[in-house]
Amino acid sequence: MRKLIAGNWKMNGLASSLAEIEALKGLTGKAACDIVVCPPFTLIENAAKRSKDSTVIVGAQDCHPEASGARTGDISAGMLVDAGARFVILGHSERRASHNETDAIVASKAVAAHKAGLTTIICIGETRDERDDGKAIDVVGGQLRGSMPASAASSNMAIAYEPVWAIGTGLVPTIEEIEEVHSSIRQMLEERLGDDGRLVRILYGGSVKASNAAAIFRAANVDGALVGGASLKAAEFAEIISAAA
Ligand code: G3P
Repeated sequence: MRKLIAGNWKMNGLASSLAEIEALKGLTGKAACDIVVCPPFTLIENAAKRSKDSTVIVGAQDCHPEASGARTGDISAGMLVDAGARFVILGHSERRASHNETDAIVASKAVAAHKAGLTTIICIGETRDERDDGKAIDVVGGQLRGSMPASAASSNMAIAYEPVWAIGTGLVPTIEEIEEVHSSIRQMLEERLGDDGRLVRILYGGSVKASNAAAIFRAANVDGALVGGASLKAAEFAEIISAAA
């Protein structure tokens, strides 16, 4: 399966950071995988203009479930498309934790995103306590089933498994632990989508770096990565991308 490597800039990046997108274009050339960069809302339009005619695709980090209306400060999926985005990350654990996003909210955002023509990257993952209690697979399964909308298909959705305890900590599950969760996600996707479930890309996210990317990409059912800190600088992100090619 063609891998998908997505960078989540989170709340980082000013106009000057667009130089990283220019640099990434130069470093990745004809990459053998799909490359997505998700800057903050404020940079999407300019990032999309700069990445035009390159292999770099621009995405967003969230959208509202409704198309328009009295929602001060929110951004709709249609607005993202209008600005040049083609992907959107939904249900990131930081949004689940600090914006109280439930699985149902994530699913409703995904419906809106699919209607607008965006490809969704739906994030799921357990906390350290949940893993220590032996509940990782159950938690991830519940989030997956609850966050995937009826409109989901391999053509418009990827899943990102991001253990909360691995995000920004330098801690990474063992390859066996990653394979165990990814294979259970694959099984659930097949139960829900039939044969098409085999084609949904399952990304790993959480402290992916140039130094560990190749080993992670060799793991079974790992079809790419969702990268935070290491996506901010084009040079390191390009190394991760080349590990996937
Ligand atoms: O969405 C990506 C993310 O949460 C992982 O962040 O900084 O650990 O790669 P980081």
